[in-house]
Amino acid sequence: MKKEKIAVAYSGGLDTSVIVKWLQEKYNADVVTVTGNLGQKKELVGVPEKAYKTGAKKVYVQDLQKEFVEEYIFRALKAGALYEHTYPMATALGRPLLAKALVEVALREKCTAVAHGCTGKGNDQVRFETAVAALAPHLKVLVPLRDWEFKSREEEIAYCEKHDIPVKATKDSPYSIDENIWGTSIECGILEDPMVEPPADAYQRTVSPQEAPDKPTYVTIEFKEGVPVGLNGKKISGVELIHVLNDIAGANGVGRIDLVENRLIGIKSREIYEAPAAVTLHFAHRELERLTLEKEVMHYKMKISHDYATIIYNGLWFTPLRPALDAFINETQKTVNGTVKVKLYKGNVDIAGRTSPNSLYDTKLATYTVEDTFDHKASEGFIKIFSLSVKTYYRVNTNGFKAKKKGIKTRLKKKV
Ligand code: ARG
Repeated sequence: MKKEKIAVAYSGGLDTSVIVKWLQEKYNADVVTVTGNLGQKKELVGVPEKAYKTGAKKVYVQDLQKEFVEEYIFRALKAGALYEHTYPMATALGRPLLAKALVEVALREKCTAVAHGCTGKGNDQVRFETAVAALAPHLKVLVPLRDWEFKSREEEIAYCEKHDIPVKATKDSPYSIDENIWGTSIECGILEDPMVEPPADAYQRTVSPQEAPDKPTYVTIEFKEGVPVGLNGKKISGVELIHVLNDIAGANGVGRIDLVENRLIGIKSREIYEAPAAVTLHFAHRELERLTLEKEVMHYKMKISHDYATIIYNGLWFTPLRPALDAFINETQKTVNGTVKVKLYKGNVDIAGRTSPNSLYDTKLATYTVEDTFDHKASEGFIKIFSLSVKTYYRVNTNGFKAKKKGIKTRLKKKV
């Protein structure tokens, strides 16, 4: 029988460390680990050493930040994609890219299967496996967390000790944390009670609004076709812009989200998010669209934003509908150029100014001064025609208004 060779999506945390060893034992397999750098700060130090020590035959650590920002995050930003109008989807956007990196290694290394460390009740398993199904349908996907014998972290730690797998000596966080450049997702522990306000130690990258500076910080963001390209007057790469903005906005307490959300698999879960740059950029981008998008396009795009967010959240990145929607979104973004000035202050992002060469705001039409060029008389005919259908309806179905001594009443002839 051919020896199994398995590519494992590896973070270096407890679960994926156990997976590397467990797969070797169970399938007598060679294991290749794949770790993606999506801009997470903490986790990557010492990862390759750890993977080799755990028994990996080959170790890949890949810097995916640029691809993540340019091909995933900025598409979602242009789309205005916020799941349930709130969550910028750092975790959800990262999964298809990690799955793609995993598949690429698996094909290069001629692996017989891939494996991931997502649990059996979350969204991430769906995102991973749907992506693999789309990109390499012949590859087997192994999901140890759905069928191994361990029932608790303690049992996993005991397994690590038995097999001399390096596990962090530091006290473990009571939370489950997933982090990348677009945001941090925090759940479990006390956070599972939706009535409990998150304790201070739940937050990883933002200061509390109370402790934020007493003076606001102003930031200007320049957009080109819906993509942020400049910060405070300087051209800057997407990756750098997001890192810098995370620090500035996070220091002002901006980007904290406490959300009870609907998982794809039907469970409601409570998650804390910290996404300082994502919240600021979505806000600024939306403000620029208010100035530059034609009314019908803007209203239509609001529906597309909702659909696009659902696609990302539900793990349908690699499906034909997503690029089809990208085509629509990119068309709308051609005029989304300009600069937005935002005010970051004690947890809030406010608009401080916006300007655009494509601005549809026409002072001569908007003004109430003598500069006004709007044809007020034209409104009369417009409203006559605009209201004709309702006027007809009420003429036919009611007796109209009857002024009574005690007041004014409308009486319907029939129930309508
Ligand atoms: N609820 C989020 C999502 O499905 C985040 C999931 C991961 N959360 C975590 N704390 N590990 O996208």
